[in-house]
Amino acid sequence: MTRDTFFQVVSDLTLAIQGASAYPENHPRVQELLVRLHHRVQSGASLLHGLNIGFFHDHIVVDEVPFVGPNPTLTRLIERMRGKGIEKILISEGITYGELKRFVYFLAEGSGSPSEQLWESIVYGRIEGAESAGGASLGLAPDSTTPFILAGATEVLKDALVSIGTERKRSGVEEGRDIVSSIMKGLRQEGMLIDRLIQLQGHDDYTVTHSLNVCVLVVAQASRIGLPENRVREAGLAAMLHDIGKETTPPDILTKPGRLESGEFDLMKGHPVAGAKLLRKIDCGTELPMIVAFEHHIKYDRTGYPKVRTREPLHIASHMTQIADVYDALRSHRPYRPSMELERTLSIMKEGRGTEFEPRLFDGFVEILS
Ligand SMILES: [Fe+2]
Ligand SMILES: [Fe+2]
Repeated sequence: MTRDTFFQVVSDLTLAIQGASAYPENHPRVQELLVRLHHRVQSGASLLHGLNIGFFHDHIVVDEVPFVGPNPTLTRLIERMRGKGIEKILISEGITYGELKRFVYFLAEGSGSPSEQLWESIVYGRIEGAESAGGASLGLAPDSTTPFILAGATEVLKDALVSIGTERKRSGVEEGRDIVSSIMKGLRQEGMLIDRLIQLQGHDDYTVTHSLNVCVLVVAQASRIGLPENRVREAGLAAMLHDIGKETTPPDILTKPGRLESGEFDLMKGHPVAGAKLLRKIDCGTELPMIVAFEHHIKYDRTGYPKVRTREPLHIASHMTQIADVYDALRSHRPYRPSMELERTLSIMKEGRGTEFEPRLFDGFVEILS
């Protein structure tokens, strides 16, 4: 399916909803629109084994393809969905004309509770989970879902907020979500950065998922110590981009199962410098991403890499990223080992308190997660 075909699905859905609210039921114009929409949806869904549409502040994602405004069609559809509390729609293969029509009428109605209706081939709802029970893990396996490039961030965020938010009051959770969503917004506006992340995704899927997890964990730490919102956001952005230099690392090294040979490890160790160089060329509006990309593998006791001669203090955002980085790497499922339990991860990390990790930030981190 091409970008154009995806856009046609979005615009036909908008037209059908408008038609359904403007004309009486079974008016030929509405029928015509519904038939066309059904045809498009059906062929998309059978080709992709289900059609996935996400609605965000200012863009829509169909399958993995983002459509960013300003565009009146997108804006109208996003507003309509917001009014219905819908952030995500999943349409399965084989959806009937009747069900699609019913769904379009449901969307077209000004109000009305969706819960009385039964849907066979449609699942829809919010992309959030702050109020759902249980502590979901942050270690999102890279192969567990097909990640939407940026929409995936919201999924990660959902899991993160469930675990961060269980012990905290709801306003804290909401604040965390707002902050990260504004990071996402900033990223979307900065087309260059998105291109980089998308490139990195093609290069190594895991790195992008990992970057989003680390971003969320850094935002949580930064909020916890009471940094002002703009600095929290800055730290989150820096964390998101910390591994951007991995686009220069050969993919077979990034995904190699098991230990790296020493030559391979040397290549891997180039990513902080490569990232800093890359970020120096991009205007992020702040130098912090460059600093964090450079410093995130330097440990609290100055071992790690790259080797630095001075004892200049590392940036606090680098310390926070480093902690989140190790945590997420241990928690994530990788091809060569399963993910590690929360408690075991923290007890292993505890051994690095004061040597590998800045001790007070480490304590704070443990507090956030336990
Ligand atoms: Fe790294
Ligand atoms: Fe990393």
